[in-house]
Amino acid sequence: MRTYTNVKDLGNLQEAVKEALEIKKNRYAYKHIGENKTLLMVFFNSSLRTRLSTQKAGMNLGMNTMVLDINQGAWKLETERGVIMDGDKPEHILEAIPVMGCYCDVIGVRAFAQFENKEYDYQETIINQFIKYSGKPVFSMEAATGHPLQAFADLITIEEHKKTARPKVVLSWAPHPKALPQAVPNSFADFMNEADVDFVITHPKGYELAEQFVRGARVEYDQMKAFEGADFIYAKNWAAYQDPNYGKIISSDRNWTVSDRQMAVTNNAHFMHCLPVRRNMIVTDEVIESAQSLVIPEAANREISAQVVIKRLLTAP
Ligand code: CP
Repeated sequence: MRTYTNVKDLGNLQEAVKEALEIKKNRYAYKHIGENKTLLMVFFNSSLRTRLSTQKAGMNLGMNTMVLDINQGAWKLETERGVIMDGDKPEHILEAIPVMGCYCDVIGVRAFAQFENKEYDYQETIINQFIKYSGKPVFSMEAATGHPLQAFADLITIEEHKKTARPKVVLSWAPHPKALPQAVPNSFADFMNEADVDFVITHPKGYELAEQFVRGARVEYDQMKAFEGADFIYAKNWAAYQDPNYGKIISSDRNWTVSDRQMAVTNNAHFMHCLPVRRNMIVTDEVIESAQSLVIPEAANREISAQVVIKRLLTAP
């Protein structure tokens, strides 16, 4: 594996989950793999879980780890080619990336969608420049259109907690005061479409995700109907994808906030969210604090998903 940006990079998903569960039993078993190797984590956006869990994964593998926050202490980077650089950005990403590649063996990149240009976001311009110009294996720590480390951790969590061979998993839109990228729901859909689950997506009309991620999965506009008999509820907000509303909030309907009302029609479902979460916007205090909430185990599994990915990047032929 030379890059990790989507579910396909993992190859056989069942084998990847099996590898993750093995690593979880003894996360220091591969400490020799990363000896004298350096992990560089580059953040264009804020993070709590990704920053800590990925660093921990690298340390579990014996790596040295470095973190660069592009917007705090590094030179501001110009990312467009052909720009006359007479503004506030003194360095171009086309020099910065190969320089970063000189100092490390593996690079993780976080660069969210900017919502200024849908084509620019959905072409994954920034992470693809790292893949092209760094000369090193690159993995996504949440890019413009996907968050595959999160979705892999979510799948591991579902595998650990499912009570039936083929559980019903519902991805539900929920309200949020800010326009958020589609990266988390895109990757979650991508993984669930590959996994052995009964997958349903529910959201208000106008919040349809890109077909390359939905891939024909059932979309149910009635949230209560979607929740009926569900084993896992995965709540997340995202801004509109479809034109002409790309990147915009088109509903703030608090009836979509996940509460005991919706959870009552499920099969005593587990509640999931990638965090950070806005309580009583996305989910009520009662649901997130309930015994069925998996938000902390999901976050814990971020260390494991990152460790599988970095291990594979380090050992690829
Ligand atoms: N879930 C997630 O990626 O969390 P952070 O944004 O805090 O890294």
